Amino acid sequence: MKGVILAGGMATRLRPLTWVTNKHLLPIYNKPMIFYPLESLVQAGIKEILITTNPEHVGQFITLLKKIDNFGVKISYEVQDNPKGGIAQAIGLSKSFADNEKIVVILGDNIFSYNLSKAVVDFDRQKKGAKVVAKRMPTECKHYGVIELDKKGKVISIEEKPQYPKSDLAQTGIYMYDSQVFDFIEKQNPSARGEMEVTDLNNFYLKQGTLTCEVLKDWWVDAGSSFEELMRANILVAKELMGENEKKDLMNLYRNRE
Ligand code: DAU
Repeated sequence: MKGVILAGGMATRLRPLTWVTNKHLLPIYNKPMIFYPLESLVQAGIKEILITTNPEHVGQFITLLKKIDNFGVKISYEVQDNPKGGIAQAIGLSKSFADNEKIVVILGDNIFSYNLSKAVVDFDRQKKGAKVVAKRMPTECKHYGVIELDKKGKVISIEEKPQYPKSDLAQTGIYMYDSQVFDFIEKQNPSARGEMEVTDLNNFYLKQGTLTCEVLKDWWVDAGSSFEELMRANILVAKELMGENEKKDLMNLYRNRE
């Protein structure tokens, strides 16, 4: 399986921090935001990763990631010319990179304390379809895609930021797809706000009856959604690192680079 990280978009909700830089390069405690999804994919055994981003920022990602030898994996880049194209459009840019293999996609501003490895293995065994990862968000669910499950854990519906959520299960920014994804994206139309929505894409799989869902118990933050969530991600990561000497050693490795 190959990995795709989406690091484009306008990031208007984080201005003025994002007037001159990409939101995925902002700090989360002691590392740039993009390190977190990258580390999650590397931890799950993914060896080839594509990063999609805006034309003006791609050089900054290349310069940054070269400093740490690209985490020892093969990293390539695709430019998303229209930063408002939408998540599904950005995923569509990975067609030749995927080369008919399954892909695991992470939205570059999603920070989580969750080991992807098991879900990746489970999805490798899934004959066809897609998998989404959800998190219970009892108070703020309407800010996200909302997933409704039946009693057996089968997905019944997914709605993008509904006014009246049917459940408290938020769709996180971790998605796994088989190679049908590119045909579905081609069939998709932009939503009312003019974006190719990931929720519409996932609904193609839902209709096909091949969408599975894993509910994560650990913390998850959509760090790019507001200053408060950005701060929350910083605090959660800092707390996790406190007292963990092994991880501190890893940070020295980053710091001592020229
Ligand atoms: O974080 C989870 C949520 O992400 C889901 O619950 C929603 O269903 C999903 O639509 C998405 O909502 P957001 O409002 O958080 O999406 P946002 O526009 O912030 O973009 C999420 C990430 O995708 C961010 O890292 C930037 C990247 N992106 C976004 C767009 C619109 C791109 O790379 N290209 C794009 O065109």
